[in-house]
Amino acid sequence: MTKEKFTVTAALPYANGPLHLGHVAGVYLPSDIFVRFLRMNNHDVAFICGSDEHGAAITLRAKKEGITPQEIVDKYNGIIGKAFKDFDISFDIFHRTSSEIHHETAKDFFKVLDDKNQFTKETSEQYYDEEFNQFLADRYITGTCPSCKNEDAYGDQCEKCGSALSPTDLINPKSTLSGKTPIMRSTSHWYLPMQNHEKWLKEWVKEGTLDGVGQHDASKWRNQVVGQCMSWLDNGLRPRAMTRDLDWGVKVPVEGGDGKVLYVWLDAPIGYISATKQWAKENNKDWKDYWTGDRKLVHFIGKDNIVFHAIIFPILLKAHEGLILPDNVPAYEFLNLEGDKLSTSRNWAVWLHEYIEAYPDKIDELKYVLTSIAPETKDSEFTWKEFQTRVNSELANILGNFVNRALVLTQKYYNGNVPALGILTDTDKDVIATMEAIPARISKLVYDYKLREAQAEAMKLARLGNEYLAETEPWKMVKDPANAERVATIMNIAIQITANLSIVLQPFLPSTAEKLSEFLDFKTTTWENAGKLDLIPEGHSTHKPSILFQKIEDSLVETELEKLEATKSIETIFDPQKENASFDEFSKMDMRLGTIVDAEKVKKADKLLKLTVNTGLDTRTIVSGIAKHYSPEEVIGKTVTVLMNLPPRKIRGVESQGMILMAEDNDGNLSFMSPEKDFEAGCGIH
Ligand code: MF3
Ligand code: ZN
Repeated sequence: MTKEKFTVTAALPYANGPLHLGHVAGVYLPSDIFVRFLRMNNHDVAFICGSDEHGAAITLRAKKEGITPQEIVDKYNGIIGKAFKDFDISFDIFHRTSSEIHHETAKDFFKVLDDKNQFTKETSEQYYDEEFNQFLADRYITGTCPSCKNEDAYGDQCEKCGSALSPTDLINPKSTLSGKTPIMRSTSHWYLPMQNHEKWLKEWVKEGTLDGVGQHDASKWRNQVVGQCMSWLDNGLRPRAMTRDLDWGVKVPVEGGDGKVLYVWLDAPIGYISATKQWAKENNKDWKDYWTGDRKLVHFIGKDNIVFHAIIFPILLKAHEGLILPDNVPAYEFLNLEGDKLSTSRNWAVWLHEYIEAYPDKIDELKYVLTSIAPETKDSEFTWKEFQTRVNSELANILGNFVNRALVLTQKYYNGNVPALGILTDTDKDVIATMEAIPARISKLVYDYKLREAQAEAMKLARLGNEYLAETEPWKMVKDPANAERVATIMNIAIQITANLSIVLQPFLPSTAEKLSEFLDFKTTTWENAGKLDLIPEGHSTHKPSILFQKIEDSLVETELEKLEATKSIETIFDPQKENASFDEFSKMDMRLGTIVDAEKVKKADKLLKLTVNTGLDTRTIVSGIAKHYSPEEVIGKTVTVLMNLPPRKIRGVESQGMILMAEDNDGNLSFMSPEKDFEAGCGIH
C-alpha cells in the first residue's frame, strides 16, 4: 500500500455549550477511528480540531448566561477540550478561533480574496433592531421557514429542513434580542458571488473532476452529501454576505470594514488552517505541506454543516488558489436519545463530560456502542437499554470472555508461556483463513468511511475466537494426556487471535487494545501485521489477565433513565402551547355562561352525564364526560361555561347540543369553570 498524505478535520464545535453523545457519535469518534487507522498504516496524517468561538451562537449564549463572550468561550473551550482529552480523541491539535494566529490567518485569507476581486460589495436594506441598535443576521433573527413552515427558522438556515435562508426569506421575522418585529435599514457588505461557481461545483461534486481533472473519487461520497449539494446547485446559488455588522469576531481587514466582522462561516473553516499553522509551528513543520499538493483533505461533519463544507468552503479555497479542496466530506445524520431528538436547550442529552465523570472506566464501552449505532446513513438512536445489552452480550460475553479464556487457560496449562503450534486440523485451517481475511475487509470498509461495519468486522474476530474455543473445548481435551499436542495447538491459535485483536481493535477501542497488549506483553501499532498467525512466538510469556469489561447493571440503566425523566417531567407538566389560532377563528366560538337545571346518568355509559342547561337563550341538552368526577345531584344549580356552537351530535343515542368547558390538571381531575362573580346564565364570554 503506497503511503498517502491526509489532513483530517473534525467540525469545530461551537464553544457555547458542552458536547453531547450526538456530537461524539457523528463527528469526533468516527474521525478519530479513521485517523488512528491511517496512522497504523503509516500514512502521513494531521488531525485538526478546535473550538468555534465567534458568531451569534456565542454572543447569544453570553447574553443568556449574563457573562461576556470571552468568558463564554473560555468556559466551554475548557469543558470541551477536557472532555476530548478524557475520551482520548487523538487530535494533533485542539485549537481555538479566538487566538491571534487565527485572526491573522482569517484576515489574510479575506484580503487575498478581496485582492483577487472575488467579492462584490453591495449596499442593501437589512433588518435592524431599533431597541438594541443592531443589524439582525443569522441567529439574531427568527421567523417562519418559507419551505417547511417551521416557525423557529434562523436568519441563515432552517434547522428543520436544512434550507439555507436569508433574513428576508423569513415569514414573520422577529428579533432574537427584543422579540420585536425589526425595521429595515441600509448597510453595505462583502458578498461571495456563489452563482459564478455553479458550473465547476456541479462537475466537482458529482463527478469528482476539477477543471477536467479527476480530483476525488465521487463514488465514495455519501449519497446524502451529494444529494444535498445537488439540490442547492439545481436551485441556483445566490450571492452570500461574508461580513456582518457585529463587534464579536474577526475584524474586516479592508477599507470600509469598520464595525464589521467576518461571517462566522467564513471565519470558522479557516480555523482548520490556522490550527494547522499553530500545530506546525509547535512541531517544526511547514503548515503549507498540509494544505497543498498531493494530499487528501477530509472533513468529518454533521449533516447540518454540509453546504458550508462541500460548497462554500470549497469556493473559498479555490478562489484563494493554491490550496487543496476536500477529497471527501463524510457527513453524519443525527443521533436521537430515548425516542426523542437530542436538544441542548431542553437539556435532553447525555453530556460527554458527565458520562466521563460518572463512568471513567467505561470509555471504550461508550465508544463501542456509539460506533455500533453511528448515524452514517440515517438517523439512529441511543438508548441506555441497548447500551447495556451491547456491552454485556457483545463486549463482555464475546470479546471479554474469549480473551479471558485464552489467557487464563494459557496460565493454567503452561504457566503463561505460549505453547507450540502442532499439526493443523481442518477446523484450525478454516479459523486461520478467516482470521487472515478480516484485516483487509476492515481496511476496505474504513477507506469507504463505513466505520460501523468496520468495527463489526473487527468484532467478528472475537466471535471467531469464542466459537473456536467453544467448539474445540480444550478444557475437556486437556484431561487426557494423549491430547497434549492438540491442546497446545488450540491454545497457540487462541493466543494468536488475541494478538490480532490487539491490532484490529486499536482504531476503535484503543484502551482495550492496550490492555490486550499488556496481557500479552506484545505490541505492534502496524496494521500490516494484522492477520498473521505467527505474531507471538512459542515460549513467549504472557500475563494473567484482569476482567476486560464489567457487566452493566440494571441499576445504571435505571439511574440514567431517571435522570432523563427528571428533565422531561419539567416540560411535560403542561402541554406545550398550540399553534396560533387567528383572531377570526377565535371570534367564531360562541361561549356563554349556562346554569345546569337538571342532570342524570346516561344508561350504560359510566362516564357520561346528561345535563339540561339553561343558556339564557334556550334550555338544551348537553352530554358531558364528567360522571366520574361529579354526581348528578352535585351539579344541579351550578353555573358553568358552555361552548354553544359546536354542531350537535349524538352520544349514546342522546343528542348533545354544545359542550361544557372544563379545566383539567395533570392527574386528570376535572373542574368546572364557573364565574367568580354571581353572573347568571346567558352572559357572553369573550
Ligand atoms: N461550529 C459549527 C457547528 O457546530 C461547525 C463549524 S465547522 C467549521 O455546527 F468548519 F466551520 F469550522
Ligand atoms: Zn424549513
